[in-house]
Amino acid sequence: MKVTVVGAGAVGATCADNIARKELCNELVLLDIKEGIAEGKAQDMMQTATLLGFDTKITGSTNDYSKTANSDVVVITSGLPRKPGMTREELIGVNAGIVKGVCENILKHSPNAIIIVISNPMDTMTYLALQSTGLPKHRIIGMGGTLDSSRFKYQLSQHLGCSPADLNAVVVGGHGDTTMIPLIRLATWNSTPVTNFLSAEQQEKIVKDTMVGGATLTALIGTSAWYAPGAAGAALVESILRDEKKLFTCCVALDGEYGQKDICLGVPVIIGKNGWEKILDFQLNETEQAAFNKSADAVRSMNDVLKTL
Ligand code: LAC
Repeated sequence: MKVTVVGAGAVGATCADNIARKELCNELVLLDIKEGIAEGKAQDMMQTATLLGFDTKITGSTNDYSKTANSDVVVITSGLPRKPGMTREELIGVNAGIVKGVCENILKHSPNAIIIVISNPMDTMTYLALQSTGLPKHRIIGMGGTLDSSRFKYQLSQHLGCSPADLNAVVVGGHGDTTMIPLIRLATWNSTPVTNFLSAEQQEKIVKDTMVGGATLTALIGTSAWYAPGAAGAALVESILRDEKKLFTCCVALDGEYGQKDICLGVPVIIGKNGWEKILDFQLNETEQAAFNKSADAVRSMNDVLKTL
């Protein structure tokens, strides 16, 4: 199995590091446009192989896509990250050009790859990847909800004083501070609704803190977060390559599901060897569906910006 991670910045490198540590593939290529950075980080990671005990061969490349040939999965992290105070949406102009170019180069050498999009604004970049490549929809997966759901479980665990591993909770909708929808009504702690244990104020705070989870970290660190985004990308790669059929919230092309069409948005999907294999209907209530529709409107107006570029 072969995986390529495009973009050797903090998110891309962390994603690659997780993939290697878990030995998800035998060949891993890290590619970046900036001279030397991918080669350097690949070598640095390879020098952890004997310490951490993995056998994945990691190669770095400065923009030579021939090295990525025949990848089974490609993770795209390229583009500018957020600066404090910036929304993910403000990155659209620059990142659209980058992501489109990356997709074209990737497909020249790996026509059968499944593509995972992490670049922001993630919902629009996923839509762009789908439109510009014309690939079957099941092979384009936006990572956002996987990360947001993990952040949601973290916030819940802090209030419940429990292990995040005992929680089941998903965030649907867009991967934006105002477009994501943490579904607290459906969240459970070992099969029991978390709402049984949390006051209305606590619930409101958890939802709010989850929604601005990325922005909170950007303000603290000075740039976008990378540990959880990188790990979320690697978790999807794992479910694909091991055909685990795990349920994640991912940004995928909707064709009437959740009442939406001609858009990529976060919904619960099964991830396996064919990419996203099935969308699950979580039967949103009226309020949740209204929030989902509002999220779709916001993402759609961002997608419209693509036409003006
Ligand atoms: C975040 C970026 C990766 O949410 O979108 O941290």
